[in-house]
Amino acid sequence: RVLAGRPADLAGRHVVISAGGTREAIDPVRFIGNRSSGLQGYALARTAVARGAEVTLVSANVALPDPAGAKVVRVETATELREAVVSAAGHADAVVMAAAVADFRPATHSDTKIKKSAAEPDPIHLVKNPDVLAELGEIRREGRAPSPRVIVGFAAETDDVLANGRAKLERKGCDLLVVNQVGENLAFGTPDNAAVVLVAGGDPVEIPRGPKEDLADVVWDLVAARLA
Ligand code: CTP
Ligand code: CA
Repeated sequence: RVLAGRPADLAGRHVVISAGGTREAIDPVRFIGNRSSGLQGYALARTAVARGAEVTLVSANVALPDPAGAKVVRVETATELREAVVSAAGHADAVVMAAAVADFRPATHSDTKIKKSAAEPDPIHLVKNPDVLAELGEIRREGRAPSPRVIVGFAAETDDVLANGRAKLERKGCDLLVVNQVGENLAFGTPDNAAVVLVAGGDPVEIPRGPKEDLADVVWDLVAARLA
């Protein structure tokens, strides 16, 4: 896709984007992960560069080429992603959390490969990971550190999309929440990829089904308007 012809409305702005999905080790060869491809986060990074932004892309386990012109920081776990995002957020105008961050991780992991034996395996005990998006909102609300003026979250909801999304936006203290509607049109076997952006203090913005760059551009339109 042609990225030229966009407004340079993010020139002079530093944006931090997280992309992909975190992995939480069980042992040196196994992990708990998720299906995030990183495509939406990478589309956000490419379009932000095209609109003139300085881009830091915190990338978790993604098999995609580095977007030209972006600074890429590679992470594996939620703990590493938190460290990279929170430290970059201190000098960012906007943070967009497109990554699928694992909510839980194994409480301990083995330094050696777990071998199978005659006995049934031990259960994996999980503990909670830090909620990076909520932490960014909290740091900003409490004025604990320099904070981005715009904080954007992503969410996939299957039911009561608007109500669940609105509650999540408020709980996390973000300015925009991009909610992917999952599970619509099930009768036709086609997942409905339409998204709606919930806006703190404003009306929701519907994004029709289309390429990930189009969704990214709507996000940057809303971010640029809030930064102006
Ligand atoms: N997120 C985060 N840190 C986590 C989990 C999620 O920063 N430990 C961010 C995601 O990057 C996303 C947003 O929070 O931008 C919403 O993620 P989601 O999984 O929908 O929200 P949760 O609060 O984890 O709620 P749920 O119980 O629905 O998973
Ligand atoms: Ca979650």
